[in-house]
Amino acid sequence: MASKLFSPLALRDLKLPNRIVVSPMGQYSANDGCVSEWHLMHLGTLSVSGAGLLIIEASAVNPSARLSPHDCGLWSDANAAALEPAVQFCRKFGGAKLGLQLWHAGRKGSVTVAWEGQKPIPVDKGGWAPAGASAIPYPGRNTPIALDAEGIRSAIADHVDAAKRADALGIDLLEVHGAHGYLIHNFLSPTTNKRTDEYGGSLENRMRFGLEVFKAVRDVWPERKPLGIRLSTTDWVDGGWEVEDSIAFVHKLKALGCDYVTASSGGSVPEQRLNVYPGYQVPNGERIRQETGMCTMAVGLITEPRQAEDILSSGKADLVALGRGMLYNPRWPWHAAVELGEEFYYPKQYERSHPTMRAGDFLKPAR
Ligand SMILES: Cc1cc2nc3c(=O)[nH]c(=O)nc-3n(C[C@H](O)[C@H](O)[C@H](O)COP(=O)(O)O)c2cc1C
Repeated sequence: MASKLFSPLALRDLKLPNRIVVSPMGQYSANDGCVSEWHLMHLGTLSVSGAGLLIIEASAVNPSARLSPHDCGLWSDANAAALEPAVQFCRKFGGAKLGLQLWHAGRKGSVTVAWEGQKPIPVDKGGWAPAGASAIPYPGRNTPIALDAEGIRSAIADHVDAAKRADALGIDLLEVHGAHGYLIHNFLSPTTNKRTDEYGGSLENRMRFGLEVFKAVRDVWPERKPLGIRLSTTDWVDGGWEVEDSIAFVHKLKALGCDYVTASSGGSVPEQRLNVYPGYQVPNGERIRQETGMCTMAVGLITEPRQAEDILSSGKADLVALGRGMLYNPRWPWHAAVELGEEFYYPKQYERSHPTMRAGDFLKPAR
């Protein structure tokens, strides 16, 4: 029987050839938001990996929306121009459709890159005061500025401008980053949102900013192109954002034309108690899928083809995203296809690497 993993999925007018997604992964290799040569290799490799969708890393919507000084951005035409060669390469040679994640890092911003330990960079040493829902710092980091009405308006406008740039670049799908303790999540979570205005307090109020961002982006993102969101489905702390809140939020997002939700988790506060095991975020995504009817993307320690296939064929998710597994083995989809007995796309330059081509008869077509 044909596998679910290698079955196509349509999101609006975008036809994904299979259900394997390369999860967005920041490379900390950009300067002033402009991607570097590293990205040509990184994105190029992943675009020929056989995944149906490659989501380009979290791209900051303004300079102070970055986590580190070396994050990718899409706030300027220079940022878009820097990304264009990699996008062109992926379009010309890749089999994957191209997504991009729009991002505001919120209160976590102004830290060194991952391999330098994400240490806070003070304002007088080239850092910045990050923006947050409330002026409560992520422990050990710079104190954020609580966005006022004008700050909220301009953060929304920045998402809109970046979405327009992504469209002009030819990006097929956009994902709003609403997870991992970044700005939208700062507003959603009672652990980080202590506001007393219409953006704080009740669940309704805490959801307002995220919904306004989503709606504004949906309004400018072409009707034919899908728009999704990544959520931390739970904060993993008592008194934090819970999966029931995520379900309420997803109902609202659905009404605004959201096409899928990626079910991630955590990131709001360091006290979180994560219980990590293979597919540990799948159950929350499954609940969201069942209770809202939303198309969902599972992510988090999905590493085995049969595990991915089980998640999809048992109706726990519609798509599976792999992060670290794809860095470790960028040909994961090729191997999964062999394991599941599927015919599969290879760039023609690499066709002879297929296991059926190793017997020595190099002139025989692979399949
Ligand atoms: C190097 C690296 C960079 C990441 N950057 C992002 C990012 O830009 N946006 C995001 O939503 N998640 C990011 N993540 C999280 C991954 O997308 C993914 O959700 C997480 O690694 C769990 O999936 P995995 O077990 O398949 O790696 C990153 C993870 C890694 C390892």
